[in-house]
Amino acid sequence: MKDGATLTRRGLLVGIGAVGGAGAMYAAMGALGLAPSGQDKEYTPPRPGDFSLRGKAAASVVILGGGVAGLTAAYELGKAGYDCTVLEARPRAGGRSLTLRRGDRLTEENGPAQEVTFGEGVYFNAGPGRIAQWMLAIDYCRELGVPIETFINNNAQAYVHTNGRTVRARTARADMYGYIAELLAKATNLGALDRTITKDDQERLLEFLRRFGDLGPKHEYDGSTRRGFVRNPGMDGGVPIPPPGSLHDVLAAATGRSITNDFGYDQATPMFQPVGGMDAIVRKLEAAVGPDRIRTGVRVTKITNLDDGVEVAWAGGAVKADYCVATLPPHLLAAIPHNLGAQVTSALRTPVPVAAGKIGLEYGRRWWELEDRIFGGVTETDLDITHIWYPSHDYFSDRGVLVGYYNTEREAELYAALTPQDRRRKAVTQGRKIHGDKYGKDLLSSVSIAWERQEHIKGGWVRWPAFDSSFTLLQRPAGRVYFAGDWLTHLIAWQAGSMESARSAVTQLHRRALQSQ
Ligand code: ALA
Repeated sequence: MKDGATLTRRGLLVGIGAVGGAGAMYAAMGALGLAPSGQDKEYTPPRPGDFSLRGKAAASVVILGGGVAGLTAAYELGKAGYDCTVLEARPRAGGRSLTLRRGDRLTEENGPAQEVTFGEGVYFNAGPGRIAQWMLAIDYCRELGVPIETFINNNAQAYVHTNGRTVRARTARADMYGYIAELLAKATNLGALDRTITKDDQERLLEFLRRFGDLGPKHEYDGSTRRGFVRNPGMDGGVPIPPPGSLHDVLAAATGRSITNDFGYDQATPMFQPVGGMDAIVRKLEAAVGPDRIRTGVRVTKITNLDDGVEVAWAGGAVKADYCVATLPPHLLAAIPHNLGAQVTSALRTPVPVAAGKIGLEYGRRWWELEDRIFGGVTETDLDITHIWYPSHDYFSDRGVLVGYYNTEREAELYAALTPQDRRRKAVTQGRKIHGDKYGKDLLSSVSIAWERQEHIKGGWVRWPAFDSSFTLLQRPAGRVYFAGDWLTHLIAWQAGSMESARSAVTQLHRRALQSQ
């Protein structure tokens, strides 16, 4: 749970931080009969012969929302021949898995539309941008034939900017590790651990601390070449950067954030991204589902659970199906009239939408590669931009897009309230503090997203005040309506969460459809 605390500090959410405990929690819930039955077993996709071998016709399913959860549900159900219809309110399927390219137009509630004028082949992942190796999104990339490449989540060569000072991440790490190792070695040598561990273990600990902190013979930390060089080694030993400040200086600089950046189970290096843009996953899912099954621009106005099916209505139309999978964000779903009961409405209202924002800054010159020698990775800051991401792809190209801010909650709301021009101005002002004047030069274009202002989405993700009975209630169907989305998992704000949840709904629905008359 320690990493959970880190994530919470980053303004993320209970869900992401709780990952470590999810397995144990599900086991406990399973024992109590609370966990969806699909969660404790390997997933078995519905099979093509499941209906025909039983002499039955495949059931029909109306899926609300064409984001990753909705498309995954349609894709999996389609494997057994279900007659699926996906209803998507936005002009395009994909939901938050949004990659912006030249010619795209990004509209926003209470704000002007932005035209994307990037160069040919340049893109910006406005939503999800990285995938951990263990996540289901990787399995879908393999299954769907989406090539992936490394996403550099932690780069020693990137910077950390805190309290007005900028240092390379490697320098911050060397100093923190060095001084921590020195302190612990000191405590050990003063006998502070005598009652805790044996002398032999103290020796083993000291041996490790010497390597961990690059300590001197007396277990002192007085700098290390790990910190970096002013002039790199080559024919001679190079010129190391000036020695570190005191322990006080290092602690007061508060650079620790750059060290713990990739400690979490969900953030560990290396991470991955689809080649050419994150939306490759949803485009492949769309193609597999069949574009004729996805109806865009359909805003659902009513959900009626019936004895023999579900009716879903919108302005100018309605559809009846045997089952429904509702994948809209819970706060939007709660506002749609339905007959699923007050408990469902109240459960849907429980998770709190979280604001999240990003800006893509397109430069005509990859100065971060040419001058700073940064190839991918993240600069951590204590500024309101929170992070700067450098592209982990198309190195050496002329153009490139930096993520000039990626922030959440209060900081995201601050930027969301500005015009796109002012967001850019502010992001550049902040970036200059780290990179100097070049941050304002060669800037060709930009596009910024405020997820809480995106129509039919209205939030970056949600935060559950607690994973309580509302959470587990919605993991079960209400009548013939199943719910799915990252918001119903412990992988909130990850596509993998949407996929896990879609699989759980599909498993439950399929079992029931096969058992029904
Ligand atoms: N999954 C989100 C991220 O990678 C929260 O930042």
